[in-house]
Amino acid sequence: MGKKITDKVTWVGKTDWELKSFHGDEYSTHKGSSYNAWLVRDGKNVLIDTVWGPYDKEFVTRLNEEIDLKDIDAIVMNHNENDHSGALPELMREIPDVPIYCTKKGEQILRGLYHQDWNYVTVKTGDTLDLDSCRLTFVEAPMLHWPDTMFTYMSGDNILFSNDGFGQHYATESLLESTADMDEVMREAKKYYANILTLYSPQVTRKIREILEMNLPLNMICPSHGIIWDQNPAGIVQQYLEWADAYQENQITIVYDTMWNSTRQMAQAIARGIESADPDVKVKLMNAAKDDKNDILTEIFSSKAVLVGSPTINYGISHAIAGLLE
Ligand code: FEO
Repeated sequence: MGKKITDKVTWVGKTDWELKSFHGDEYSTHKGSSYNAWLVRDGKNVLIDTVWGPYDKEFVTRLNEEIDLKDIDAIVMNHNENDHSGALPELMREIPDVPIYCTKKGEQILRGLYHQDWNYVTVKTGDTLDLDSCRLTFVEAPMLHWPDTMFTYMSGDNILFSNDGFGQHYATESLLESTADMDEVMREAKKYYANILTLYSPQVTRKIREILEMNLPLNMICPSHGIIWDQNPAGIVQQYLEWADAYQENQITIVYDTMWNSTRQMAQAIARGIESADPDVKVKLMNAAKDDKNDILTEIFSSKAVLVGSPTINYGISHAIAGLLE
């Protein structure tokens, strides 16, 4: 069954406790993840996003327990990467004529992925969908983190459905900021930003400023992975602005690989030297061949300086260092 978030909004997603890697093997998910989908019930009933393909039948079955599928008036697809659109074909077999609201790029991606001539309704920033007592407003957010991405804002409950933005790969029963282990959540939120969004920081800053200028009241942010920001949604928005602004902590990260222990000894000697020169600086030593690459990138993201050391092999550098530098 779903989880009621407000009188009108129910979480109908999937918590994936066992997920250990994502994007193929490009992102480690030590804490699992969730694919958050939302059912908004008002004069019209709208589903926002779906879940990853392997869970498509489970998703449609559970959604059907929550609402007669024929009573769904519209589907909003904020972003169409497979983890959010994967269950769409299974659902559309049941309700093939229901309109799918998405960006123009979103339609292209859905057509490319699933080769279906569904009832697409393409929307732009400022377009709205009236549900009766509340209204959905769409805000395009290209490259946060795909070209098709958009956010959906719900008036009345004052919720921003932000898809990947403000998300974390984090499986939890509690689902709410008010009840989650926030140390773990913030660690995963930072890892998500560092690994998925750093490249798009200029777009992050511009989009947040654009949305802030709309002066929309904001009670909650509901991302498509991890917890709902229900206590202090402005806090994660402010944190994103800081992360997007050449973020640094008083930290230096030393990443090395080693063949016969020599490069490790050099890395450790450098670490001791830094610590004796500045006891306040946090020094992180990480072995590129043994430590998780996404964790290393998160430490690099937090650092004011990074040192990289590799043993020499065949006139080159080790593949672990080469992969990390790429
Ligand atoms: Fe969670 Fe970009 O998909």
